[in-house]
Amino acid sequence: MRLIKIFDSIAFRISFSIAVIVASTAVAVGWIIMREERKMLELELRSKGKYLTEIMSRRLVEPILYEERYEIFSLLQASMKGKESLVVYGEVYDKNGEVVVTAYKDEKLHKIIPLFENSIGSVDVREDNLLYHITLPINVEALGTIGFLRLGITKEPLYTTLKTVKQKFYLLSGGIIFIGIMIGLWMARKILRPILILNKGVRMVGEGELGIEVPVVGEGEIKELALSFNRMSKKLKELINETRAAQENLVRTEKLYAVGEFSAGVAHEIKNPLTSIKMLIQTVKQKKQALSSKDIEILEEEINRIDRIVKDFLAFARHEKTEKADVNINNLLEEVIAITRPKMEQSAISIKQKFSQPLPIIKGSHDALKQAFLNIVLNAIQAMDSGGGTLEIVTSYESGVMSQGLGNMPHNTPKVSVIIKDTGIGIPEKNLKKIFDPFFTTKEDGTGMGLALTYNIINDHSGRIDIDSTPFMGTTVRVELPL
Ligand SMILES: Nc1ncnc2c1ncn2[C@@H]1O[C@H](COP(=O)(O)OP(=O)(O)OP(=O)(O)O)[C@@H](O)[C@H]1O
Ligand SMILES: [Mg+2]
Repeated sequence: MRLIKIFDSIAFRISFSIAVIVASTAVAVGWIIMREERKMLELELRSKGKYLTEIMSRRLVEPILYEERYEIFSLLQASMKGKESLVVYGEVYDKNGEVVVTAYKDEKLHKIIPLFENSIGSVDVREDNLLYHITLPINVEALGTIGFLRLGITKEPLYTTLKTVKQKFYLLSGGIIFIGIMIGLWMARKILRPILILNKGVRMVGEGELGIEVPVVGEGEIKELALSFNRMSKKLKELINETRAAQENLVRTEKLYAVGEFSAGVAHEIKNPLTSIKMLIQTVKQKKQALSSKDIEILEEEINRIDRIVKDFLAFARHEKTEKADVNINNLLEEVIAITRPKMEQSAISIKQKFSQPLPIIKGSHDALKQAFLNIVLNAIQAMDSGGGTLEIVTSYESGVMSQGLGNMPHNTPKVSVIIKDTGIGIPEKNLKKIFDPFFTTKEDGTGMGLALTYNIINDHSGRIDIDSTPFMGTTVRVELPL
């Protein structure tokens, strides 16, 4: 993975390209130089060979004329003496092309190559891989051609020189390629460093480190880019700070507004019972008589009502996170039903229970959840107060996706779901979005805190609550609680 990343990086590609260019240039230049060098050396060796043959042919005139074969042989041998000598064989022919004398430096070379037809009369140079075969007619002014001389000139010095040149070339081009790669890497780093720095900067901003500045390195467009990035980063930070401040302001204003609304609601709720208490006391005062037992009953009722409002208000306002313990929702609902059964019997409400058994235990506050479900069940009973009906309570375990609605439970959490369904008066569409508001009530003696409290409790358990209702048909409340 890391290796692929390196091959993919621009730095690698640039230095690799530079290395390839440098290497191929070095090879091409080297090849040309070698070719020229070889040509030059060949030419030099050839002319040296011709010169040697010429000198030798002049020296051979006299011995040939006097037919001194031994002298000819000695002269040929002398020309081959010494390590440095280029001549490896010598052959002397008579004017008819018949061999007169031969001498070889190395006996292995002992093979007579016949004279070439066209070599008669002029210098003839033949070559194979190892030797130049140079043939020259031996001329005397008065007699014309008296014979031929052929010398074998070794190409060895040519190969030795070429070998050293090649070695030097390999060494040099190796060095050039190495330096090329180094320069490539260095250039790539120099060009890319500012881009890499920018890249890092962008990543950091992406991760939320607003306002960071990258060092301005590089030239031209890259420098411009770095400057623009720094400006953008700074602007972004300012903007976000401003937005944050505005948001905080808004939240503060909303909170103040909510507190105002809430206080107005509490005051309004308390005002009613207080007014009736005040009126009662005033009447008793005017009539100058003692409180009757009925008056005391009314007083007690109104004071209880105030007490309830204040209690609910405190419970809502404190919004305390209660200690969580194991809760069995089936058992908890049984308790709620037990409390409300007398009321249901009074109002001719039948109850249908469909409890999934066993139901997983959830973590939560038993008392708070009992209060929440009691509020829902009480609302259902109150909705069916006048004509009776059926209350259906269904529990189930679900491991799948959650339905859309209020609350903040993440999707795909295993959860317990409770459905409380009544056949009561239902909720008109326009009220549906207000039922969770504190103090929203349509009941004469209601506080409107029931569902507000319930919502908070379910929310504290990371659950969600949805209410679906059709006027005059009934209401379905669905509560989902994560395990
Ligand atoms: N099951 C239901 N059927 C019909 N209306 C309902 C039902 N549940 C809630 N409501 C409507 O929502 C309103 C708000 O309910 P909530 O429980 O918050 O207050 P409340 O019942 O009026 O008063 P409290 O619960 O304090 O006695 C109710 O007044 C009622 O109009
Ligand atoms: Mg209620």
